Amino acid sequence: MGCGYLGAVHAACMADFGHEVIGVDVDERKIADLTRAKAPFFEPGLPELLQRAMDSGRLSFTTDVAALAHDGAAPTVHFICVGTPQRAGEFAADTTYVDAAVRALLPYLRPGDLVVGKSTVPVGTAARLAAMISEAVPGAMLAWNPEFLREGHAVQDTQRPDRIVYGLPADPDEAARTKALLDEVYANPIATGTIPVLTSDYATAELVKTAANAFLATKISFINAMAEVCEAAGADVSALAAAIGHDERIGPKFLGAGLGFGGGCLPKDIRAFMARAGELGADQALTFLREVDAINMRRRTRMVDLAREVLHGTFLGRKVAVLGAAFKPESDDIRDSPALNVAAQIRLQGAEVVVTDPAALENARRAWPDLHYEDKVEVACDGADVVLLLTEWKQYKAIDPAQLAGIVRARNVLDGRNALDPQAWRAAGWTYRALGRPRV
Ligand code: UDX
Repeated sequence: MGCGYLGAVHAACMADFGHEVIGVDVDERKIADLTRAKAPFFEPGLPELLQRAMDSGRLSFTTDVAALAHDGAAPTVHFICVGTPQRAGEFAADTTYVDAAVRALLPYLRPGDLVVGKSTVPVGTAARLAAMISEAVPGAMLAWNPEFLREGHAVQDTQRPDRIVYGLPADPDEAARTKALLDEVYANPIATGTIPVLTSDYATAELVKTAANAFLATKISFINAMAEVCEAAGADVSALAAAIGHDERIGPKFLGAGLGFGGGCLPKDIRAFMARAGELGADQALTFLREVDAINMRRRTRMVDLAREVLHGTFLGRKVAVLGAAFKPESDDIRDSPALNVAAQIRLQGAEVVVTDPAALENARRAWPDLHYEDKVEVACDGADVVLLLTEWKQYKAIDPAQLAGIVRARNVLDGRNALDPQAWRAAGWTYRALGRPRV
């Protein structure tokens, strides 16, 4: 149920593992694409996997939930993969799509069937859904099996996850049956013998996901806070991150300072986590996440300020080229994209802003029609007074600064992701500035 970034990849991977899979979604355009083995979004490896799974005859897609009707001869496993967006004007998550998906399933559930929640939900949701299911269909069960996939690596993360977590029912007999079914579903990755399978109660399984995302967001905001201090002190956050990352208790990953985190998960998940902790009377425990969020949002404003500073105090009559629209490379997802947020702020302050991106232009155009978009870097940068690297696609990291120098009006480059080589750009005559790094 739900064929977005999570569900479409999950469906294709499960079919590839040898299971019979039906993907259900209310979005007709998405289902029409998937039925033709076309990925409805950019995800490396997904088109090939979809094609292979469709060719096997084990994978189909539909908007009609009645396709899930079955005779009960063998238990069926239903994965809930729908979104839990932030509620408008609130921090809390909107779980209405999860509730609706489970409700839609009820008429087709049989005793012995298993509903498996994968969506990121406020802790307590699984217990509530389990009660709803067992009341409607005695003998049907629920498990919570959080998903940790990263966009851009979704196929690989689903085929070979770092760990598999099962949140199981309290009843020991139901728990054993549920675990046996899930072990069968995940027999392929489990057979590698290298992937830990962890079992817990529902609440812990739900919290594993939110805690993991809160930790990752905190790590990014920690290094971005260090970037603020580095800027004030004239130090270099990239060198600092490399040095502290050698301590294996800290580790080098997720210490990339720059424009901070965006996307459909981390920002809304830490907010929903705070809101839920508040409901549970544990709000003090997570007040630090407010600061994590604030540091993150401040990076966007700082980037705009830095661009204005390089342009001697005004955007009026200036042309700004923005490299990157997606919230991160290898994705066409623009949900809460720091790059587009910065581009829009600069546009509002009077500059002509031209945005380019290898994959996300169509989505960006739909969401921010006021910005100007170009497919080619050279066209986007033609006559620019400043070039902003805001999403670190590999093709942007490979740009030859000498070549680009001949296209722009002024050689100003701002590296919002600390992804470029400052020496190479300065050697080609550019003024290179970045968040958390010294001016020269
Ligand atoms: C995240 C989690 O990683 C994943 O486990 C969870 O299931 C969903 O949320 P995703 O949203 O795909 O996945 O993106 P991720 O790779 O975690 O990056 C999130 C944001 O952080 C991006 O905007 C990225 O640019 C930013 N980031 C990441 C940094 O600013 N610095 C870093 O060092 C790493």
